[in-house]
Amino acid sequence: MENRELLVIDDEESTHKLLGDLLRSRGCTVHSAFSGPHGLAILHRHPQVRVVLADVRTAGVRNLDVVREIKAHDPTVHVIVMASAHDKSAMLQAMRLGADDGLEKPVRAAELDEVLARSLDERLRRRMQGLTSELEFTRQLLDTAEVLIAELDAEGRLVRLNEFGQRLMNFSRGEAEGVFAGFVRHLETRLSRIFDPHSTEELTAELAELPTRDGTKRMLSWSTRNLPSTDGPGGKLIIGMDVTEQKQLEAKLKTYNLQLEDIVESRSSELREKSRQLIHTARLATLGEIAAGIAHEMKQPLNVISITADLIKLLQRNRTLTDDLLIGNLDKIRNTVNRVATTITHLQGFIHIDSATFSSVRLQDAVDGALSILGEQIRLDDIDIVREVPADLPSVQGEYTQMEQVLVNLMLNARDTMLEKTRALEKAGAPPEVKRLTIRAGRRDESREVFVEVSDTGAGIPEDVKPHIFEPFFTTKQADRGTGLGLSISSNIVQLHGGTIELESLPGRGSTFRVVLPAENRS
Ligand SMILES: Nc1ncnc2c1ncn2[C@@H]1O[C@H](COP(=O)(O)OP(=O)(O)OP(=O)(O)O)[C@@H](O)[C@H]1O
Ligand SMILES: [Mg+2]
Repeated sequence: MENRELLVIDDEESTHKLLGDLLRSRGCTVHSAFSGPHGLAILHRHPQVRVVLADVRTAGVRNLDVVREIKAHDPTVHVIVMASAHDKSAMLQAMRLGADDGLEKPVRAAELDEVLARSLDERLRRRMQGLTSELEFTRQLLDTAEVLIAELDAEGRLVRLNEFGQRLMNFSRGEAEGVFAGFVRHLETRLSRIFDPHSTEELTAELAELPTRDGTKRMLSWSTRNLPSTDGPGGKLIIGMDVTEQKQLEAKLKTYNLQLEDIVESRSSELREKSRQLIHTARLATLGEIAAGIAHEMKQPLNVISITADLIKLLQRNRTLTDDLLIGNLDKIRNTVNRVATTITHLQGFIHIDSATFSSVRLQDAVDGALSILGEQIRLDDIDIVREVPADLPSVQGEYTQMEQVLVNLMLNARDTMLEKTRALEKAGAPPEVKRLTIRAGRRDESREVFVEVSDTGAGIPEDVKPHIFEPFFTTKQADRGTGLGLSISSNIVQLHGGTIELESLPGRGSTFRVVLPAENRS
């Protein structure tokens, strides 16, 4: 009973004296409280006090509350209530409130020894119960855990190997011990690091394959911990989580991902090919639409050529072919051939658009390209050229030569209308006007779009003509001056670049054709 600490709660000095002497003579340390609250305060301060002797009448009925409060504070504290022989009811009530034992007053040494012995037995029994259930829990934990758990002592002897570990390897504990010892002999293997009893390195989530009885291998994620020991070197705890399936799944997933990438790649290239075909088909459809126009356009000059040739032959046969007649008719043939050639040039541009070959195009370059082709010619026609193109214009995605062709077409139309207007003014005897071709470029819609416009001070376009100007082969020019393809081809090119052509025109004052394109790297 030595080293036990007890608390006595009683309001009588004599009881404290008596119990104190008895208990101290039995080697116990005694704390004394003269009221319930005082006793509780001592319990709080001294958790090592495991037994309380309390008088049921110490502070009237409230003392019974103390029993309840002690039990609420720590149910494992053993409470022995004391009452005189004629106060049995208070004692019973205290027992109902949770007191563990009772002691009759005045206290006799023999009875005191008896209750104290019982308290010890009771506490031991409870401790044992607690330990047994803890052990049972640990055993169940060890054997139901879906991880391999092994304990090695400092010499490498296998102290413990849980059921899962034995099942996984299909080895008994004894066999497993030999297998583990074998790992350590092969220093180059990862398992030797894990199972070496002399290594104090603590590993976490190390991957290593564990061989099993049937020769197959399982992939485990290993962790090791050193076990503390009070005497000499401690052993080590080894935990292995079977991640074979997880690793297989991960590997599969990786292959799937790679396959997926392949599939996505091939699908996108299929799509790219499809859209190329679509563009091609769309172009063919438009071509079909204008095929009739082309037939007509070609037939007519061919007729002119064959009739002229026949005429030359006839004149020759009749000996009426003079040099002048011959040269005049040959010129006619020459001009007609030129016209056909122009049409063919237009059509070639139309056929060659392929968005797959688009690259970054600076519109200012296209403007300068078009000006270098036409600028001189236009100036000779006494037309002023104004160029308002900012240097920091965003680029567009496209084909440079196509962009240049659009601008050339627009500039040619601008020149034509201004020359036509001059001729009309001359004819009417009116004074000539200044002819000005303006090329302006800029950004729109918060830099998402870029535009370049060609303005003229020409005749303008009448309302009833406007709806037709983009139609293939629509022209108001004399047959030998225009094919009527310029705007149709230009609008096609711009559309294929994802843009539009806007038109503003005031009859008699001039027109502005504005090409609007999506800017590259839109923000
Ligand atoms: N700037 C302009 N001012 C007035 N009319 C225009 C202007 N641009 C085009 N047009 C009208 O639109 C028609 C069609 O133009 P488009 O460029 O397609 O063919 P074209 O100029 O007649 O012939 P091509 O360009 O093949 O030599 C012109 O004939 C003209 O009537
Ligand atoms: Mg034209």
